[in-house]
Amino acid sequence: MKMFDLTGRVAVVTGTAQGMGRAMATAFAEAGADLVLLDRNAAGNDATAHTLSQMGRKVIPIAGDITQFDYIDKVFETVDREFGHVDILGNVAGEAKAGPAEDMTIADIQTTFHNLVISRFYCCQLAGRRMLKQGKGSIMSIGSIAGVTSLGRTQAIYGMAMASVIHMTKELSTEWAGRGVRVNAILPAQTLGSGGLEKRMENDPYLRDSFLHGLPRGRFGQPDDIKGLAVWLASDSADWITGVIVPMDGGNLAKNGGGGLLAPIIEKYVK
Ligand SMILES: NC(=O)c1ccc[n+]([C@@H]2O[C@H](COP(=O)([O-])OP(=O)(O)OC[C@H]3O[C@@H](n4cnc5c(N)ncnc54)[C@H](O)[C@@H]3O)[C@@H](O)[C@H]2O)c1
Repeated sequence: MKMFDLTGRVAVVTGTAQGMGRAMATAFAEAGADLVLLDRNAAGNDATAHTLSQMGRKVIPIAGDITQFDYIDKVFETVDREFGHVDILGNVAGEAKAGPAEDMTIADIQTTFHNLVISRFYCCQLAGRRMLKQGKGSIMSIGSIAGVTSLGRTQAIYGMAMASVIHMTKELSTEWAGRGVRVNAILPAQTLGSGGLEKRMENDPYLRDSFLHGLPRGRFGQPDDIKGLAVWLASDSADWITGVIVPMDGGNLAKNGGGGLLAPIIEKYVK
């Protein structure tokens, strides 16, 4: 559909070797965009680039660690040289340290904020400067439901960092909206894919039920759940959409912790 068409647009996406980053990049390619792919997993990133270039898109994979500023500088120099413009930024990569709040070290906090906040902000700056000159651009960052409500389960620093991603989105969108640059955030709930979540659930038999209790939709997320949302936010059909924090969460944030039907009531009333 024309209103979701991204033909001729250039998208920079991080975390593209797997998971939601790969799904987002795939969606942009399917909608017509050319791409620059960032991931420290060079083999996985190259594999994604190979798949997407088969669609007829120009795709440049650049392996590296998003916490290294000179790597991000190099990526945007390549964008300037190879394309001369950047229209879409998808901030997906980044990981966190987890553990009991009382045991976390300052280094754990710094590493987590560097991965999830500072690196995302630096990518926003480098893309944003170019987009502001163009008078147009769409930036989206992955946050988490953990940035809005507390998981209360060794994820304190992660939640603090994701709350910063949400506020970064509001600040940048407000500062840049009048000059044509839109900035939004997507907040996933538990999304399968890389195997990390599956492993954690294997190690803790109660975790699967606990997660599903918080997902009224009745299933975990899949990386592909991000595809339609990402294309919409990137496209001109979302021209008046900026500063929004969109849950991608199977209904998680809408639900009160004690909410939901109890099993005997479901059996009685829900056919
Ligand atoms: N999966 C979930 O349930 C979930 C829920 C909410 C938020 N998130 C957030 O969404 C983002 C993506 O999650 P996912 O499940 O798709 O991840 P994933 O683990 O499947 O993939 C992440 C990709 O990013 C790359 N990466 C990680 N750190 C990097 C770094 N410093 N430099 C370069 N590449 C790096 C990895 O190599 C990998 O290819 C993460 O920030 C995560 O915290 C995930």
